[in-house]
Amino acid sequence: MSKKVMILPGDGIGPEIIEQAVAVLKTADEKFSLDLEFSEGLIGGASIDAHGEPLTDAELAKAGECDAVLLGAVGGPKWDTLERAIRPERGLLKIRSGLGLYANLRPAILYPQLAEASSLKPEVVSGLDILIVRELTGGIYFGEPRGIQTLENGEKQGFNTYVYKESEIERIARTAFEAAKKRGGKLCSVDKANVLEVTVLWREVLDRLAPEYPEVELSHMYVDNAAMQLVRAPKQFDVMVTGNMFGDILSDAAAMLTGSIGMLPSASMNETGFGLYEPCHGSAPDIAGQGIANPLATILSAAMMLRYSLNMGEAADAIEAAVSKVLDQGLRTGDIHTEGTKKVSTAEMGAAVVAAL
Ligand code: NAD
Ligand code: IPM
Ligand code: MN
Repeated sequence: MSKKVMILPGDGIGPEIIEQAVAVLKTADEKFSLDLEFSEGLIGGASIDAHGEPLTDAELAKAGECDAVLLGAVGGPKWDTLERAIRPERGLLKIRSGLGLYANLRPAILYPQLAEASSLKPEVVSGLDILIVRELTGGIYFGEPRGIQTLENGEKQGFNTYVYKESEIERIARTAFEAAKKRGGKLCSVDKANVLEVTVLWREVLDRLAPEYPEVELSHMYVDNAAMQLVRAPKQFDVMVTGNMFGDILSDAAAMLTGSIGMLPSASMNETGFGLYEPCHGSAPDIAGQGIANPLATILSAAMMLRYSLNMGEAADAIEAAVSKVLDQGLRTGDIHTEGTKKVSTAEMGAAVVAAL
């Protein structure tokens, strides 16, 4: 039976990188007879322009009926002055929360060919393989009350609420423990339990679950230290688990260890295995339309989609091997370009992966 994949290109470089990822998926489809069925939808600024809102309920429902969703990126200066409730980013938050995609997996893996492209010394990053597990549908991103209010003295005050229920912590913790069990057996939970009660509870829940996973060594770290340790000695980490906002920030930092944010894929899943797959980076308005964006994070996200939501691990492996082969050939988009390698465009990079596949 065919598997339905919804494509949401979004804004900025979104359509450019998605075009390459879809070409790779279509090649994999032919080679491995995957029987993928594609449909396309609108999200972010593209949807605001067409419908006046960043994700319509109809589009959300369509996404939920598919087997998986592949997304480019949303946002851009054109929509930055809109009121917060209808900004492009709200479309992304709506699809994540609307489909219950609480488990965000962000693997930061250094391809050995890119050791020179990392901003850290090759010996500090060589062999790097970290999985950041980020809670994606709760925390300060969604907590109520939120807003900007005017005080009695006429001064304005902005406020958000950092809140987690035990059940929300427990389910993301279990995702992380299970992942650690299958990998290097180490789990570092990142919090700010020295200041924030919500993360005192976070730590308590992790500690309570730890005895159920005797094969996993659990440690705790404050987020400020974790940011420093990621840059000082990143290979000490195997799996990291943290809340929505800390995970957002730490994963961008981890991205740079791998050479570029243009290399970091992600999966956002619910308990049924359904997932939304997207690069960790944004719509990169500064380079949009120039055909120079790195499509590899999106192509690698497509591979994660095949593996995690569509049970097509062989095709996923083949795409990842093709990416590695293209890096062996010395092809680099501008963000990962170093001396002695060949600078290529978004389309050339995509075509090279297709050819390698
Ligand atoms: P960004 O990730 O879009 O860009 C940060 C920097 O990284 C820029 O210099 C950009 O050129 C570079 N970069 C990003 N992806 C790249 C790629 N594939 N190849 C080469 N270089 C790349 O972050 P930003 O500038 O803070 O945000 C821009 C817009 O994107 C904002 O509207 C923001 O809200 C949105 N955003 C969306 C997502 C998403 O859709 N998942 C994620 C982050 C930011
Ligand atoms: C990401 C992005 C989003 C987030 C924004 C655009 C809502 O930065 O996917 O990392 O903060 O989750
Ligand atoms: Mn982010």
